[in-house]
Amino acid sequence: MAEDWNKYFRSIRLGRWTDNDQPCWIPLHGFHHFISGESNYGKTNTERVYLSELSYGIDAGAVEVIGFDAQMGVELQPVADAGYLKEFYGPPIIGSTETYAEQFAAAFEEHSGIGVERANWMREHGINEWKITRTDPGRVILIDEAGQLFRPGVPKATRDRIQTAVDTMTYQLRKCGYVVVACTQQPNLDAIPIRHGFTYGVAHRQGTALGYRQVTKLDLDYPPLALGVPGLCYITSGGKRIARTSFMPEVLPRIGGARNRFTIAPAT
Ligand SMILES: Nc1ncnc2c1ncn2[C@@H]1O[C@H](COP(=O)(O)OP(=O)(O)O)[C@@H](O)[C@H]1O
Ligand SMILES: [Mg+2]
Repeated sequence: MAEDWNKYFRSIRLGRWTDNDQPCWIPLHGFHHFISGESNYGKTNTERVYLSELSYGIDAGAVEVIGFDAQMGVELQPVADAGYLKEFYGPPIIGSTETYAEQFAAAFEEHSGIGVERANWMREHGINEWKITRTDPGRVILIDEAGQLFRPGVPKATRDRIQTAVDTMTYQLRKCGYVVVACTQQPNLDAIPIRHGFTYGVAHRQGTALGYRQVTKLDLDYPPLALGVPGLCYITSGGKRIARTSFMPEVLPRIGGARNRFTIAPAT
């Protein structure tokens, strides 16, 4: 039986609900994900959850993850080493004539260009959802610490290039087999001007009450998440329910086929 990669790419298990311990599924294809939270509350762990859930598809070549890590690559290096990333932008390219931020801008532009080609092709052919196959895989554009790319120290012209390319992806690529996942500590627009295009939020602990709403885009008064407990989050489709992400303490080398190699930890 042929595998239905669109069905596979439709949703992933983020972890468990804290109220009933049931698995917490979140939609993937058709959304762009914004993961936010103060330092040390589990953003990078959450990215590993995505990678783990997509591991089977990555092994099969039906899913490709393009990793961006503007902290010199320190956060995503272990998953790059473990073979989860098709391409990895993080460690500075030695000998390049471009600045570090320009290297990112060029890579974002390249990938948004490929994605837009896909979107145009779909429009011409009247196709609403990209058929994901091993030859035309689903792609996740994963950006850790995306706020780093918009620091005042980065020249405005470069910030603008990055913003344009990422906005193009989030605004124009919906069910094109592209999902953009960006992580940031601060959810406010000054820190993360690309925020508008994201349609699904995972809000780990925020410094302000407003933060939860900015990330989830739900107009709710959220009680603050517990201080000092990583992994808790509000999500766009969860209202005021609290989920706990699966704990991914280490990155294991990718070995063929095992989708459930990481077990989903029970909420404690
Ligand atoms: N769901 C979780 N359960 C238990 N510990 C977690 C969970 N998520 C993250 N942690 C731990 O919290 C710490 C910070 O997580 P990390 O993902 O690096 O945060 P961030 O990227 O937001 O700074 C790490 O030690 C990590 O192992
Ligand atoms: Mg991190």
